[in-house]
Amino acid sequence: MTTVAEPALVEHFEATLARHDRIEPRDWMPEAYRATLVRQIAQHAHSEIIGMQPEGNWLTRAPSLRRKAILLAKVQDEAGHGLYLYSACETLGTSRRELTEKLLTGRQKYSSIFNYPTLSYADVGTIGWLVDGAAICNQVPLCRTSYGPYGRAMIRICKEESFHQRQGYELLLTMMRGTDEQRAMVQESVDRFWWPALMMFGPPDADSPNTGQSMAWGIKRNTNDELRQKFVDMSVPQAEALGVTLPDPDLRWNEERQAHDFGQPDWDEFRAVVRGDGPCNAQRIEHRRRAHDDGAWVRAAATAFAARQAGEESR
Ligand SMILES: [Fe+2]
Ligand SMILES: [Fe+2]
Repeated sequence: MTTVAEPALVEHFEATLARHDRIEPRDWMPEAYRATLVRQIAQHAHSEIIGMQPEGNWLTRAPSLRRKAILLAKVQDEAGHGLYLYSACETLGTSRRELTEKLLTGRQKYSSIFNYPTLSYADVGTIGWLVDGAAICNQVPLCRTSYGPYGRAMIRICKEESFHQRQGYELLLTMMRGTDEQRAMVQESVDRFWWPALMMFGPPDADSPNTGQSMAWGIKRNTNDELRQKFVDMSVPQAEALGVTLPDPDLRWNEERQAHDFGQPDWDEFRAVVRGDGPCNAQRIEHRRRAHDDGAWVRAAATAFAARQAGEESR
């Protein structure tokens, strides 16, 4: 499809990146830059949408009206995030239909974290604290990503993610001030989610071959290991304030590095989950497929309505 790009176009693209300006949808861009963005934004959009499932699981069993209202608002925010990101992806010339198709057939991925089950209400708090917390670490630098529509979507998403993180932390704090049984629920939940949360930053830098190119293009602003370190350093004092123990015997402050040393997640488990063999992969996709099929009549009606409107306008 592409012929050799005009040197002037390449030069303009490179100069835009060098000035830390945004690349916009109508600007010329290398095909590999476009493909990398589509892959990353799609994976991000799918994560928002699939990510509604583990918490949605608790909507009908929230312990109070207040908790239900908070959880409902949070899950709806995630739907909105998915939609902004699918729209950003469409500006690169890939339709939402195509992206959904690729998700359902396993050709595009979503974050490994959403393949873990939610077993107690404490998980709603832990997901907010650790999973949305990790998402914030990943996403704040993306507000400065080089592709305009993606960066602008991230600004709004990050504001909502910080509400998600706080509601989770506040829920855990309330439980920690409750009964022994509630405190045990929180600790058990943190034990299950800590390592999968560390995996959210992706494999170690040495095993992440695309990072260098993505950084050169200004799509990524920090490496996986840098972000993981930042997340650990941020979470340790929060865990202390909460009164929970992070399940890592190697976790300790390193005076020399002015950062925490910590253990490695089980990378074999990570690879298995990414491959589709996590605890809930099949269930998540099956649920998404059913929702997609159930929505077929809405898409058909909207398409028919749009066609009729267009017909009326042209008369
Ligand atoms: Fe989100
Ligand atoms: Fe969130």
